[in-house]
Parts: sequence; structure tokens; C-alpha cells
Amino acid sequence: EKGGYQHFMAKEIMEQPKAVRDTISPRIQDGKIVLDKITLTAEQIKRFKKIYIVACGSAYHVGMIAKYVFEKFARIPVEVDVASEFRYRQPIMDDKVLVLVISQSGETADTLAALREAKNLGVRTLSIVNVVGSSIANDSDDVIYTWAGPEIAVATTKAYSTQLAVVYLLAIYFADKLGTITAEEYSSYISQLQSLPDKISEILANKEQIQYLASQFFNAKDVFFIGRNLDYAMSLEGSLKLKEISYIHSEAYAAGELKHGTISLVEDGTLVIALATQDALFDKMISNMKEVKARGAVVLGLTTKQNKKIEQVADYALYVPELCEMMLPSLAVVPLQLFAYYVASMKGCDIDKPRNLAKSVTVE
Ligand code: M6R
Repeated sequence: EKGGYQHFMAKEIMEQPKAVRDTISPRIQDGKIVLDKITLTAEQIKRFKKIYIVACGSAYHVGMIAKYVFEKFARIPVEVDVASEFRYRQPIMDDKVLVLVISQSGETADTLAALREAKNLGVRTLSIVNVVGSSIANDSDDVIYTWAGPEIAVATTKAYSTQLAVVYLLAIYFADKLGTITAEEYSSYISQLQSLPDKISEILANKEQIQYLASQFFNAKDVFFIGRNLDYAMSLEGSLKLKEISYIHSEAYAAGELKHGTISLVEDGTLVIALATQDALFDKMISNMKEVKARGAVVLGLTTKQNKKIEQVADYALYVPELCEMMLPSLAVVPLQLFAYYVASMKGCDIDKPRNLAKSVTVE
């Protein structure tokens, strides 16, 4: 049932091109995004003044990326909250608000409670869910399913990737209805979205390189992930993946925050994984890499293929294919998943069932 792989996580990482394709393809017809069962009308979309995104764990990290994507494409302000915080903070909501809930299982207790809280206030709800017929799917006004198939490993990989794919579909769909992107942009974003599965396959074909990097660092005591904007959101996911299955202490920081305290943790030999996929922030990231290197850090830089300049600073470099910047998280996450997987595997950890964790957190 593991399809020849040693762990479900490995199988699920490798299934990502198919999962993303299955999630995107049925929703693109004749060059247009078609969200079949969605009852939300263009008129309703136009009335939204704000989107609250609510989720837990990795799904929350998808929400962090979604904030940038919705704000850039659809020009709607977005707030992202961890569900366990949202449900107790009495957020200000009215009929001009959309609550977007993200959950693989559709059964996460805090996320479900947050959804019900929103519904009680008469707020419109939309969910991105993987498990058909789950509580969150049933209780939302609208649901868009991720077609990732069953995810068994506790650490999410293909569900995360398909959630991101739905975020892009939805943000481009909203942007089109709102007129915040041109017809050319609309077609270009759609074709870039369609190129995702092949580009993910390209990264997976290079997995040995990441396996080699893992062999260099699997004994690390602490690992820090840094990035700015979308890359910061990616850092959070990379760090969670690593700590969740390898038990290595890791943290993610917005790179600009280093000087405000974090940099004191960097010692000789500390691994810092620096994500620098965003062109406009590339030079800023290079400066941050220099700062940590000056304190003895070993830097693993991740960027796009054109940015070979990263090798002037980073000790090791990883590249992902070129793509519209907003969609790069879909590519950048893959080496981070593989890195966590190989490190955990070299440490002999129980990868599919890490200690103290459950696949679905159905209690508060
Ligand atoms: O089923 P959900 O997507 O609602 O689960 C949310 C989190 O529990 C989940 O993403 C968790 O953080 C994963 N184990 C991360 O790999």
C-alpha cells in the first residue's frame, strides 16, 4: 500500500504532481476557471471588504501565503488567524466578510469551531477541504475540494500542495470577477498554474541532491529558516516539517527580524536555510545571509534558477524552476519537504507517525 516506498510520506511527496494536476485540471475549461458547485456569485464577491483565513498547522501556513496571493491578485485585505486564536478573540465580522477555512481532514476541532462561530454570526463561509463529507465540508456554505486523495502520513505534503493550488485558482477567479487583473494576466496566471505539476516533477527528479544535503546536516541541533514575505511563510512550513518528523529544534523567522534578537542564537556551524525566491527581495536576503555567515552560520540558500549569484554567499544552493513569483511557494516547498524527510530518515525516526502527534486533531 506504500507503493514500493518505505514511508507514506515519501509516497505522498512523490504523488504531488498528480495530486496538483487532479486538483487544477477539472477546474480549468477552455482557458477559464470553472468552480462548479460554488454558490458564491460575482455580486457577492464584489461585496467582500475583507477575507479572514482560519486554519491550524500547515493549513495555516497555506493561509499565510494566501494572504499575499489574494491581496496581490484580488486586492482584498486578508487577515490570517490560527483557528484556536480566532475562535476566542471575537473578530469583527459582518456581511462584508468572507471566512475562508482550510483543512485537510475537515475535522480539526478548533477550525470547525471557528467555522461554526462565523456561521452563527451570519458570515459567509467557504472551505478548502480534502476529505469529502467531513464536518467542515458539510458545515460550510461552499466547499472546494482538494483532490489529493487519502493522506496517511501525519506530516502533510500533498494536501498542503493541493491547498495552495486551490488558493491560486480561487484568487485568480476572484480577481477576474473583480476586474483587478487584465485578460492577459488572467490567461498567463492560468497557464502558469497548469505548468505546476511538471515543474514539481522536475524538482522531484533531483531528490538525490537534497538527500546529499540531508546527509550533511542530519546531526544538526538547531536549524533556522529565514525568508521575507512569501518566503517567510514558506520558512514556517519548512521549519514545521523538519521539527515535526526529525525532532530537530527549528524555527522560522522573518529575515528582517534577525537583528531584533534572533541572531544571538546563531553560533559557529548553525544551519540557516535562507529562502530567497522573490526577486525584489533577493538583495535583502543576500545581506541577511552575510549577517548570519559573519556569525559562523552555514547557509543553505534556496532560490530560482536565474539567481546563481546566491552561490557567492551561500555555502550550498538549491534551485527551483522559474515561475510567476506568487506561485513559487508551490515549488519551493518541495525541497523543504524532501529535506525534512531525508533528515528524519537518516535519524531513524518514525516518520509517518511522529511522537506525540495525531493526523487529525479532533480535540481542543
Ligand atoms: O486536517 P487539518 O488540515 O485541519 O490539520 C491541520 C494541522 O493539524 C496539520 O496541518 C498539521 O500541522 C500537520 N501535521 C503538519 O504537517
